[in-house]
Amino acid sequence: MQPRTQVAIIGAGPAGLMLGALLAHRGIDSVILETKSRDYIEHRIRAGVLEQGTIDAMDEVGAGARMHAHGLVHDGALLRFAGRSHRIDFRALTGKAVMVYSQHELVRDLVAHRLAGGAPLAFEVDDVALTGIETARPEVRFRSAGQPGSLACDFIAGCDGFHGVARAAIPADRLRVFEREYPFGWLGILADVAPSSDELVYAYHDRGFALLSMRSPSVSRLYLQCAPDEDLAQWSDDRIWSELAVRLAADGFTLATGPITQRSVTPMRSFVAEPMRHGRLVLAGDAAHIVPPTGAKGLNLAIADVRLLADAIAAHYAGDPAPLDSYSETCLRRVWKVERFSWWMTQLLHRFEGEGRAADEFRSRIQRAELDYVTSSPAAATALAENYVGLPLR
Ligand code: FAD
Ligand code: PHB
Repeated sequence: MQPRTQVAIIGAGPAGLMLGALLAHRGIDSVILETKSRDYIEHRIRAGVLEQGTIDAMDEVGAGARMHAHGLVHDGALLRFAGRSHRIDFRALTGKAVMVYSQHELVRDLVAHRLAGGAPLAFEVDDVALTGIETARPEVRFRSAGQPGSLACDFIAGCDGFHGVARAAIPADRLRVFEREYPFGWLGILADVAPSSDELVYAYHDRGFALLSMRSPSVSRLYLQCAPDEDLAQWSDDRIWSELAVRLAADGFTLATGPITQRSVTPMRSFVAEPMRHGRLVLAGDAAHIVPPTGAKGLNLAIADVRLLADAIAAHYAGDPAPLDSYSETCLRRVWKVERFSWWMTQLLHRFEGEGRAADEFRSRIQRAELDYVTSSPAAATALAENYVGLPLR
């Protein structure tokens, strides 16, 4: 007999793993299919800032112990420009904080939690294809260890990221896509050196944006605005550190340097696909939307989607179809607010060039005025802070 489950989850990123955990918590079974190896997904360096809603979800499923032991609670962050730092006090302005904890550690915690509970999670699965999504009996076909397999289910959750197959299974005439690519990327590094600041530093500089973040008391994470197709071979360790030092410079600040252990270039884009449900296929996380990382939102958006989705699927099995019917609409209201915030932080803090000298100079004067405003008006600072710590789920 063909294997069957209630929910087939495509992708073991934060969205897929958290959805599996939340469904298990509600007594609903699922199978997670992932193309990469366990080792690969547990070492994939990505985001690092968790909102309270993400922390709550980790606690709800019982996977939060390591996060609380090693995560760093941050009550504020610094905006730096014209050589001066201005603190945005999240706690004072909103009563909330964020936590710095690596995405790959969260993934590791969720994988361990799932395997300890004995729930199915298959790695290195190839040729994943979705069929029957417009019927009540959808199916996922795949290859595992060279053998063809198939899985019958009630729902398919497309949690397979931006480059996955799930979104592409929706007929093109039923999907609307909204997209903006930015004319720059981020060169990101991990370095074995204690962070030079206790809190994140978002720096606006004539030479381009820079961000000082961290992973632990002994590991720093830093980013530089660069060309979207920047050639890493042109960036020696010395060049990276001296460019960071120039862009992050401020009175009384010294940038500590150390061995760089990882480097990569990330392109920047805003993207939303509507709707997030077609028949028995539901999308969550990067499969449905992408934000530029300036607001630290990608991971948190993915977790917020699946918190709604798990409740909606549970309501379906309890006889109430309404939450699943409105899943896309409810999600997209929040998604667009977060898209707006991520776009706003991006256009506030990056150097834009190429619109002509007069337009470029006008833009940078507006940016300086807005930075002045955000760091001097409690109302403007509160607007930034309440978005940064996370908007309500609904
Ligand atoms: P993903 O994490 O992409 O997970 C999708 C999973 O599906 C992957 O494991 C993938 O291997 C798997 N998959 C793909 N195709 C298939 C298939 N056909 N079948 C089965 N499985 C499949 N956000 C921030 O907030 N700050 C950052 O600094 C930051 N840095 C980033 C750097 C990079 C290079 C990238 C790509 C993203 C970054 N993000 C960042 C965004 C954030 O990491 C994502 O928003 C988050 O990973 C979304 O989680 P997800 O589970 O939706 O998707
Ligand atoms: C990170 O630590 O990787 C990080 C932090 C804040 C951001 C983006 C990335 O806005």
